[in-house]
Amino acid sequence: MNTKRKTILSIFGTRPEAIKMAPLVKALAAEPGIRSVVCVTGQHRSMLQQVLDLFDITPHHDLAVMSENQSLNGLIARLITSIDDVVTKEQPDRVLVHGDTTTATAGALAAFHRQVPVAHVEAGLRTGDMSSPWPEEMNRRFVDVVSDLMFVPTPRSHANLVKETLHGRAFVTGNTVIDALHSVTKRIDSQDALRRKLDARFAFLDPSKKLILVTGHRRESFGRGLRDICAALVRIAKRTDVQIVYPVHLNPNVRATVISALGGAPNVFLVEPQDYLGFVRLLQRATLVLTDSGGVQEEAPALGKPVLVMREVTERPEAIDAGTAVLVGTDSDAIAATVHLLLDDTSARAAFSRNVNPYGDGRASARIVAALAGRPFEEFKPVTPGGTKDSARVSREAFA
Ligand code: UD1
Ligand code: UDP
Repeated sequence: MNTKRKTILSIFGTRPEAIKMAPLVKALAAEPGIRSVVCVTGQHRSMLQQVLDLFDITPHHDLAVMSENQSLNGLIARLITSIDDVVTKEQPDRVLVHGDTTTATAGALAAFHRQVPVAHVEAGLRTGDMSSPWPEEMNRRFVDVVSDLMFVPTPRSHANLVKETLHGRAFVTGNTVIDALHSVTKRIDSQDALRRKLDARFAFLDPSKKLILVTGHRRESFGRGLRDICAALVRIAKRTDVQIVYPVHLNPNVRATVISALGGAPNVFLVEPQDYLGFVRLLQRATLVLTDSGGVQEEAPALGKPVLVMREVTERPEAIDAGTAVLVGTDSDAIAATVHLLLDDTSARAAFSRNVNPYGDGRASARIVAALAGRPFEEFKPVTPGGTKDSARVSREAFA
């Protein structure tokens, strides 16, 4: 019998990858037939460290590549050479990358060049528009091309892959973000002292007002898109029944626009990026969520929170089809009108606040580990039926 353990090298470097890889890294470490090696690239620094601390992950390799306001080409050049050193040293049987970041592309390419098989977690997401999200749509397509195993979150993402000529095998696992969300909500819900501590960070909030939680950081929105989002927030904040909390991403291009447009605006609280516990607690307390984030689009529906997606297209249409998210774009009028509608029409808000879980059931990591270990497993089947692309357009038009 061959008892040699397989070495799996997991590579990630940004906040969302770390949140989504954390449950998987834990599950890999507990698998007897696998030697799990973790390499963080440090594409993000403090926003990555917040997640590593929370999930108690000590990486075997930390490449510390981040530089201030990094360019994509400078970043990928640093990533390729430093990941190559790790791949050469560890001689893994397989490399695992996540999602659509520059780290994912560099990890996949560095492994491919060394003829190491690549598995892609969160494969198959597509907008069909190479300019949005940019550069992520290219990154995720590229990683799927080189992967021989693709772990796709939903049947819809699986259908995207079926249309392409790819050499890998795909499994529908659910999104590991729901595994992470479950573990954190369990902690918050079961520990009164922790909940009080998290709420104390936001002692300035008036509990009689409705909380609107905002995030926005996409590169394709830099400039006009982000300015229009901020203009909408200024209008919404004129209402006396709301308070807006916006944890501002550390990208200097985001901070310059957001701080100049919203710093000092009444009812708008700009705060530093929250650790995952603090952010999930804000999600739990929110009445509405406004975001262009991929991960937040997946988490909010699982907590029964209506989401306005401030993008022109989304690769995560499942919540829109389920009727709990609406694609509003970055137009100020559309954002403000949709927020007013959802705040003033309680039945519309109730319809959008249904707790749905199109993205996962909390068992994605277990399925991925089973696939890597060669054990059979049942693929993820969402309870919410999938819809068509047209229904995404209809709900946007209905609210714009
Ligand atoms: C990256 C990903 C994006 C993902 C986002 C999640 C790419 C091309 N983009 O975008 O897909 O949605 O992360 O947040 O991979 N910074 C800090 N400290 C940090 C993190 C960032 O100071 O902890 C600043 C640095 O100046 C850095 C800049 O933000 O140069 C941009 O970081 P980068 O990872 O290149 O791009 P993001 O916009 O964060
Ligand atoms: N998040 C967080 N703190 C914050 C804002 C977001 O922990 O202040 C979490 C959020 O819950 C989600 C992830 O970060 O899991 C999303 O990351 P981001 O929006 O940076 O990237 P994207 O998902 O758009 O790639």
